[in-house]
Amino acid sequence: FSAVDVIRAKRDGAVLSDAQIDWVIDAYTRGAVADEQMSALAMAIFFNGMTAAETARWTQAMISSGERLALQVDRPTVDKHSTGGVGDKITLPLAPLVAACGAAVPQLSGRGLGHTGGTLDKLESIPGWRAALSTEEILSQLSSVGAVVCAATEGLAPADRKLYALRDVTGTVEAIPLIASSIMSKKIAEGAESLVLDVKVGSGAFMKDLASARALAEALVAIGVEHGVRISALLTDMSVPLGRAVGNAVEVAESVDVLRGGGPADVVELTVALASEMLSLAGISADPAAVLASGEAYEVWARMIRAQGGDPDASLPVASHKHVVTAPATGVLSTLDAYGVGVAAWRLGAGRARKEDPVQFGAGVLCLAKPGDSVEAGQPLLELYTDTPDAVDGALQALEGAYEVRDAAPERSPLVIDTIR
Ligand code: URA
Repeated sequence: FSAVDVIRAKRDGAVLSDAQIDWVIDAYTRGAVADEQMSALAMAIFFNGMTAAETARWTQAMISSGERLALQVDRPTVDKHSTGGVGDKITLPLAPLVAACGAAVPQLSGRGLGHTGGTLDKLESIPGWRAALSTEEILSQLSSVGAVVCAATEGLAPADRKLYALRDVTGTVEAIPLIASSIMSKKIAEGAESLVLDVKVGSGAFMKDLASARALAEALVAIGVEHGVRISALLTDMSVPLGRAVGNAVEVAESVDVLRGGGPADVVELTVALASEMLSLAGISADPAAVLASGEAYEVWARMIRAQGGDPDASLPVASHKHVVTAPATGVLSTLDAYGVGVAAWRLGAGRARKEDPVQFGAGVLCLAKPGDSVEAGQPLLELYTDTPDAVDGALQALEGAYEVRDAAPERSPLVIDTIR
């Protein structure tokens, strides 16, 4: 094969053969296909797409570029993947909850980039907690605790790691076959028998409108079915931040509230909805709402954090500087835009601009009111936290137009919009 022939074929709208796909992914991973050639091919895929069969093969080739975990544990294995949002800390209460209900939850997670937060960044705000585990540690913790949230091991889908970094700098991230194969190659290599996807829709999500979110969800589910994974997808609203806390340590604190039977209603609702779906795929009958209220999920959380060196009882980092945003008028908060709040938290230091940057564990935004709440002029609406007070102006700019007080709030769409099985 020649890379130029494969690029020309896709440029001219052809369907790539299995052999072409296997070759190009393998050759790119080995360095025999150059970055400029792969970026031309990714752009051709962006414009001409891939069929479901091509996408499934592309995913298989990326899985085959590395190792596949063999999860030998004596309980059903089930995982969740979210396409990313603002205040989306759901993995933190969900993984211990589903483990407390009897499943094994291997949740290999990522770091934040841009305005969406990363699960590992949040957990690293717990003193002592360690994200990097060996395969042996993952398997042993899965057996002893039932839940592991950690970084992906180096050997999982190395082709995707290289290709995703290339897509990031060549304007080729936003292609559904490439997004779907990227996500699913990592999830299938991780080896869980069942997988529930939380595909976010709205300003704070990757997919801003329902039609494209649905198309992504269908592509993801199709790849899972092709690979024998029990899979379903929830389409969920991401036009407003989830819960009240957006950042790192503040999201851990809110998750602990949920695990102790309290916390914001929307975080509880989505945690229970995803847990029900995961347990149903795993063939376990349990009542996740009751298990959450009983405190058993909190016990699993504490064991999970300790197993990775963290102290679940330690106090969490707090930012040195606080700025309060007050309500401009009396009325009802009608909007609180997820993207604006996400960018504000990012600029305050909760997120990073480049992969190598550190995050501030104490930085972020607390939303004291949510859409539909009555507010009085001058009442605190948002609290901004940062260790770098110079960042406040940029955060306030991001919040311009992101919240509004009116006489009444419009009807909100439901949190769980649809389920795709
Ligand atoms: N997340 C991924 O893992 N891959 C993509 O391509 C996009 C989002």
